[in-house]
Amino acid sequence: MQWSVAALLLVIASASLAVPTDDPARSTFYKPTVYRHHFDILLRFDLTDPTDRTSVHPAECTVLFSETLAPVEQYVSREVKATIGQETILDCFFGGNPIPEILWQNVSNHEIRGDDSLYEIRNYGRQLLVKHVREEDEGEFKCTAKNLMGETQIEIRLNATAPPRRVAYKGLTTLTRPDHSDVTLHCSGSPARGERAETPLWYRNGGRLEKANLPDPSRYKFSPDFTQLHIKDLNKKEDMACFQCNISNSEGYLFMDGYLRVI
Ligand SMILES: *[C@@H]1O[C@H](CO)[C@@H](O)[C@H](O)[C@H]1NC(C)=O
Ligand SMILES: *[C@@H]1O[C@H](CO)[C@@H](O)[C@H](O)[C@H]1NC(C)=O
Ligand SMILES: *[C@@H]1O[C@H](CO)[C@@H](O)[C@H](O)[C@H]1NC(C)=O
Repeated sequence: MQWSVAALLLVIASASLAVPTDDPARSTFYKPTVYRHHFDILLRFDLTDPTDRTSVHPAECTVLFSETLAPVEQYVSREVKATIGQETILDCFFGGNPIPEILWQNVSNHEIRGDDSLYEIRNYGRQLLVKHVREEDEGEFKCTAKNLMGETQIEIRLNATAPPRRVAYKGLTTLTRPDHSDVTLHCSGSPARGERAETPLWYRNGGRLEKANLPDPSRYKFSPDFTQLHIKDLNKKEDMACFQCNISNSEGYLFMDGYLRVI
C-alpha cells in the first residue's frame, strides 16, 4: 500500500505511516493508492504528540467512501471462437469504485498469475491473450472482478476451432502404381475435436468428379462418405491424371492434389 500527500509518496506498512518532518499539519487528509488504483478514500490522522514529527498514529481515522460501487460489467467476452495455432484475446472490462482487480482462470481452473508461455495479461488484467490456441483450450475460462465492495465471476466460453487439417497417409499425394493394379486415393482431413467437415469434393484434371460422371463406373468407386476413391485394374492410357479434392467446414478448407502415375 502506498500513501501520497501532496507531491510526496510515502510507503506504509500496516497502519503506521511515516510523515515527513516538515509536515506542518496536526490533522491531514491522505489519499491512499493501493495497487495503482487511486482510492477515493480519505483518511485523517491526528498527531498525538505534536513534538513527534516522525510518526503518526491513527487517533482518528475517518473513511469517506465517495460513490463506492461493486464491480459492474462493461464489456466481457462470453463466447470466443478462436483458430487453433493462432492467438486470441478474451476481454473482461469492469467498472466499479475502487477500480476492480481482475483475476483469470483457465479451463482447468488454474489461476493465471502473470505472463508465461501460454498466456499474457494485458491492459491491467482486463485482457487475457492466449498465445497459441490449442485444442485443449476449448472450454470455460473465468474472469473475476473484485473490489472492496464485492466480486463477480464470469465464464467465457472458448471454442477452439480450425479449418480441416492434413492427416498423414489420409491425404492426396502423388502415387505411382503398376499397370493392372488397384489403388485407393484418400481425401480426409481432421477438423477440430467434436466438429465435422463437409463431404469432400473431388476433381480429375480440373473437372468435378462425381458419382454420376466417373470415367468408368465398373472400375471407379467412391466410398460411401466420399473420403476414398477406389480404382481397380489401372490402365495407363485412361487413368493417369491429376486428382484434387477439397474438404471444407465453416472455418475454411483443405485443398489437396496429387498425380496418379501408372507404369
Ligand atoms: C492452465 O494453466 C496452468 C498454469 O499455467 C497450466 O499448467 C495448464 O496446462 C493450463 N491448462 C490448460 C488446459 O491449458
Ligand atoms: C465451435 O465452432 C464451430 C465452427 O463454427 C462449430 O461447428 C462448433 O459447433 C462450435 N462448438 C461449440 C461447442 O460451440
Ligand atoms: C473449397 O471449398 C470451399 C467450400 O465450398 C470453397 O469456399 C473454396 O473456394 C474451395 N477451394 C478451392 C481451392 O476450390
